[in-house]
Amino acid sequence: MNSDVPSLQPDSLPRHIAIIMDGNGRWAKKRSLNRIRGHREGAESVRVIVRACREIGIEFLTLYAFSTENWQRPPLEISALMSLLKGFLRSELAEMMENGIRLNAIGQIERLPDDVVRVLRNTMDMTRKNKGMILNLALSYGGQDEIVAAARKIAAEVQAGRLQPEKITKTLFSNYLYTQGMPNPDLLIRTSGEMRVSNFLLWQIAYTEIYVTKTLWPAFRREELIRILHDYQKRERRFGMTENQIKKAPRGQYF
Ligand code: IPE
Ligand code: IPE
Ligand code: MG
Repeated sequence: MNSDVPSLQPDSLPRHIAIIMDGNGRWAKKRSLNRIRGHREGAESVRVIVRACREIGIEFLTLYAFSTENWQRPPLEISALMSLLKGFLRSELAEMMENGIRLNAIGQIERLPDDVVRVLRNTMDMTRKNKGMILNLALSYGGQDEIVAAARKIAAEVQAGRLQPEKITKTLFSNYLYTQGMPNPDLLIRTSGEMRVSNFLLWQIAYTEIYVTKTLWPAFRREELIRILHDYQKRERRFGMTENQIKKAPRGQYF
């Protein structure tokens, strides 16, 4: 284990970290490189950060890799991103097995190219019994679409007479989202300085701590993650209550 991990307090680590991995294009542009080179270097940051989170003991890591809005990008950029994704899944399978990482995907997976879907499903299947950490890839993901899809399924249940409207609660609603069964993110990191959520996990980030760093994603590495976790551990999450109430409450009791 590397020496900087013990400096984190194990009892106040985030259970779930979500990351908006932004800035690949700008990283490349600064170096007069093609945007695709930025994505390639970004994939290296993904490898490093997945490894670090597993080592630190994070239970869930959700990475925003491709949004529903990203379908509007030039076709060549989209196909480069898809082939990088495939390459990532193939090259990381052995390490995921070794480190007990289970892969999961959230989003409109059926919109992805068939070959990507095949590799994705295969990787999810192979890693299904792993218990060390869940790596959740948000692919063709949009938060508003996710909420609309959940509302539709719930409406169909009501229409079929299987559900009464009074039974629709926050917990029930959560069970219709892609993230069913997972805790909400404790920490959301966005790289490249943009102060927006870009349609990511809209429901799930209701009480998430946010950290925006100016670092571009391809330059985001382990040391910065550890610094952010130290910052997170200094924060007081109050969930609407007073400081005194929160000091007495067991962790995770309220949200
Ligand atoms: C993030 O980097 C990767 C994806 C959104 C797929 P960008 O490609 O958005 O990089 P910038 O924002 O143009 O720098
Ligand atoms: C958000 O980045 C989506 C991903 C990181 C996959 P974008 O680059 O697409 O976001 P905007 O367009 O700047 O909001
Ligand atoms: Mg961007």
